[in-house]
Amino acid sequence: MARIISIDGERREAVDAAIGVLSKARPVAIPTETVYGLAADATDPAAITSIYETKGRPRFNPLICHMADLDMAERYAIFDPISRRLAERFWPGPLTLVLALRPDSAIHPLATAGLDTVGIRVPKGFAGELIRAFGRPLAAPSANSSGRISPTTAQHVEADLGSRIDLIIDGGPCPVGVESTILKVEDGRIRLLRPGGVPAEAIEEATGLTVERTKAAGTAAIEAPGMLASHYAPNAHVRLDATNVVPGEALIRFGDRPVDGMTEAAAVFELSPTGDLGEAAANLFGLLKKADQTGAAGIAVTPIPDHGLGEAINDRLKRAAAPRNA
Ligand code: TXA
Ligand code: MG
Repeated sequence: MARIISIDGERREAVDAAIGVLSKARPVAIPTETVYGLAADATDPAAITSIYETKGRPRFNPLICHMADLDMAERYAIFDPISRRLAERFWPGPLTLVLALRPDSAIHPLATAGLDTVGIRVPKGFAGELIRAFGRPLAAPSANSSGRISPTTAQHVEADLGSRIDLIIDGGPCPVGVESTILKVEDGRIRLLRPGGVPAEAIEEATGLTVERTKAAGTAAIEAPGMLASHYAPNAHVRLDATNVVPGEALIRFGDRPVDGMTEAAAVFELSPTGDLGEAAANLFGLLKKADQTGAAGIAVTPIPDHGLGEAINDRLKRAAAPRNA
């Protein structure tokens, strides 16, 4: 079973223990502001292989490479002016930029699935400190088995991957709760490959440019294969935009408006009674897991506004509701 070390105690001890595992080309689960990541040395093929194996992740699905800061990122990728502006404004933070790889980049092709681009982000807090101390970028997908809901607590990681990894660093619940926003700048235009912790409105405000959503669902899927339909699959059937509860269903509610049939629900979970999208994002994955654990056949979710962080929340809910064979 994995050892769990909290960062509340001796912070240096947690960093040292993580570096010990990373130095053996093994993955370590670490907290980030978005979700827990399964991190390994992005320059070491054996380390990257162990990430794919631990998650059961298809190798055509590239990993995000995490850096300590923009200076470090520039050693591995080429920044166009818009990407640089975005990095300066939003790093450290929940933003991933897909950039051209430098020809001399030390990032191993296994991390990028052989693409000539690389997804880079600079995380806040412990993850950033760890990368600075380790001195090399960390490839880190979310610390869950492929296809499952991303973990937002160390306990989620333990329940899923605890028997397959050596170490989990416990940083408490992730404050953002949904994964990073993924952007790609092309010919001076900003494409949204995945909505996430930085709302599109904030990107538009920072750049004065329109964030372009990919036209067809399939287009993003080709470029960000992890974004394929059924990616956050609970066992229960998930029903979105619900205005009532069918007997036997669990209910996940946004806001405090009464819902028809609510008193008959198998269980009721509150994303945010006050209708705060940030709070709802932070609670989303944990409540999906809890609702699923009730054993209810279905989970009804009330409508969630599609602006700000609501876009990322609705994106993840659609994936949770998608047919499994899609
Ligand atoms: O918040 C996050 O982004 C979390 C934390 C741990 O940093 N990480 C995360 O990683 O969500 P993962 O592997 O679960 O999702 C990474 C996504 C995948 O959909 C992948 O296809 C896409 O990023 N991606 C990575 N590199 C890419 C590239 N070069 N081009 C296009 N998409 C890429
Ligand atoms: Mg993931």
